[in-house]
Amino acid sequence: MREIEIKSLCKSFVDKDTKVDALRDINLTVDKGDIFGIIGMSGAGKSTLIRCLNYLEKPTSGQVIVEGKELGQLNEKELREKRQDIAMIFQHFNLLQQKNVIDNIIFPLSLQGVKKKDARAKAFELLSKVGLEDKANSYPSQLSGGQQQRVAIARALAADPKILLCDEATSALDPQTTASILSLLKEINQEYGITIVLITHQMSVVKAICNKVAVLEEGQLVESGRLEEVNLPEDKFFWLNKENELKNKEFAKNNYSKEVRNYVG
Ligand SMILES: Nc1ncnc2c1ncn2[C@@H]1O[C@H](COP(=O)(O)OP(=O)(O)OP(=O)(O)O)[C@@H](O)[C@H]1O
Ligand SMILES: [Mg+2]
Repeated sequence: MREIEIKSLCKSFVDKDTKVDALRDINLTVDKGDIFGIIGMSGAGKSTLIRCLNYLEKPTSGQVIVEGKELGQLNEKELREKRQDIAMIFQHFNLLQQKNVIDNIIFPLSLQGVKKKDARAKAFELLSKVGLEDKANSYPSQLSGGQQQRVAIARALAADPKILLCDEATSALDPQTTASILSLLKEINQEYGITIVLITHQMSVVKAICNKVAVLEEGQLVESGRLEEVNLPEDKFFWLNKENELKNKEFAKNNYSKEVRNYVG
């Protein structure tokens, strides 16, 4: 079943007399339950593309269709409602620094009007899902990067989204922590059936958990398909950090899920 369809999507940024064509005629389908990786170099248009998927960025032309609804046709209220189905996590976690962990997770629920008691119960359940029950009263500044990303994941899941968008969600983390977060994302995908779209510049991330991948170069998709079918010549990805990848493999082999272990062989 199709979850997201992108049709002839273009996005240009115009500033005085300069124009940047960040996305050029993108066509892409993400099916329900996919972990869809979009890989590309810095400036390729990855963040712009993922922000178009929830209309945080409005395309210049083309369509974004989520579960049969074209986002461009929705009014502000409908779009806000639709966005509850589309959660997002970020490279720098974006937690509220002045709120403790449990309140960070409760916050989106209270915005939705969920009763305090129910929101609290749900937040604790999610905190336990991401393995941080003992950090409920800590503040983000007291947590490691990996722990902060776990809180961000719990917060993202609070609204029972159907889709989780990940913008370089592991890029600020060391290889071991990256492997553990990828394992958690895989678990979430399987347990809750949440479709994941993740963008990254790391080939190792794509290979560890994605079933499909698209390669973005200068705003254009140059490859797209199932992971095993897509031509991903390693030497093309010269930004791949070999040293990190080796450390990642070593750790994942010993500690993480079958999928991650399969990849590292
Ligand atoms: N708000 C904006 N105004 C003007 N130009 C922008 C804006 N956002 C992005 N761009 C330009 O669009 C292009 C794509 O940027 P984007 O942030 O999508 O790349 P990216 O692939 O996410 O890069 P990175 O890996 O560094 O995060 C770049 O040339 C960038 O300068
Ligand atoms: Mg980016």
